[in-house]
Amino acid sequence: MTDDSSEESKLVETRDGSHTVYSSRFDQHYHNPNGAIAESRYVFFEKTGLLNNLNNRDQLTILEVGFGTGLNLLLLMDYCLNQDSPTKIDYYSVEGFPLSPEVAKDFNYSEYLSHPNLTNQIGTIFGNLSGGMNHFEITENLTLHLFYGMFEDFKSDNLQANYIFHDAFSPDANPDLWSGEVFQKLKQLSANDAMLSTYSAASSAQGALAWAGWKVAKTRGALGKREMILAALDADRLSDHKRINEERYAQRYEEGDFD
Ligand SMILES: C[S@@+](CC[C@H](N)C(=O)[O-])C[C@H]1O[C@@H](n2cnc3c(N)ncnc32)[C@H](O)[C@@H]1O
Repeated sequence: MTDDSSEESKLVETRDGSHTVYSSRFDQHYHNPNGAIAESRYVFFEKTGLLNNLNNRDQLTILEVGFGTGLNLLLLMDYCLNQDSPTKIDYYSVEGFPLSPEVAKDFNYSEYLSHPNLTNQIGTIFGNLSGGMNHFEITENLTLHLFYGMFEDFKSDNLQANYIFHDAFSPDANPDLWSGEVFQKLKQLSANDAMLSTYSAASSAQGALAWAGWKVAKTRGALGKREMILAALDADRLSDHKRINEERYAQRYEEGDFD
C-alpha cells in the first residue's frame, strides 16, 4: 500500500479558475492547466455521448483509471441531479496514491456545480479509505466502488463497463497505465458497447489500444488540443469519428515502433 506523505500534492488554479493538483511524484498536473473542469466535461461526458445517455438506461457501469481529485465523479453526480436521472450507476475507480482530506478540502469545485454540496462527499471519501476495494453509497442511484491500490492489482470478476474514463498521467510520465496489457485488461472489464475516452492523442496509446483489440478513432481535443482518442469494441460506436488503421498500428506496436 502507498501513501502520499513523501510527495507534495499542491493545489494549482487552472485557466478557467478551477483547481487541479500538481503531483511531484509524477511531475505533472492532474488536469490540463488550461481548464480542469472544461477538459473533464469535454473528454469524458460530451465526446463520449455519456451526457445524452444518462436518462435512457436503467443501469450504467463506469470505470475510471485514476480517481485523482474525484472531479469526474463530482461532474457525473451533478449531471445526474440536473437531469433528474433515474439511471442506477456503478462507478468504479482505481487510485494508487489517494490525496489527503486536507488537500481535498480546499478544492473550489463547488463554485462550478449546480449542486455545490456534492463536494462535501469528496473529503468523506478520502478520509475513509482502506487498502483494497471501498464502497460508498453516494446517492440513492449512485454507488462508488473505489479501489485503493495499483491498477495492476485491481481485479473484478463481474465488472462490465459501458464507459471507461482513462485518466492516467501522460504516457511519458505514467507509462505503466498505457501498455497493451493494460488496454487488454480494460477490454476484459468492458461490456460490448463500451466506449473508452482519454485526453491523450499519443501514437503509442493508439498503438497499444489497437494491439489490445480496440477499435480506435481520433477526434478534436479539449481546449484547443488538436486531437484526443476515443476507442470502442463495437466499430459502430465510432462512426462519427475518424478511425485509425488498427491493423497497422497494432503491428507497429508489436514491432516496438513506439518505444
Ligand atoms: C491524471 S490523474 C487523475 C485525474 C482524476 N481523474 C481527476 O479528475 O482528478 C492520474 C491518477 O492516477 C493515479 N495513478 C497513477 N498510476 C497509477 C497506477 N499504476 N495505479 C493506480 N493509480 C495510479 C495517480 O495517483 C493520479 O491520481
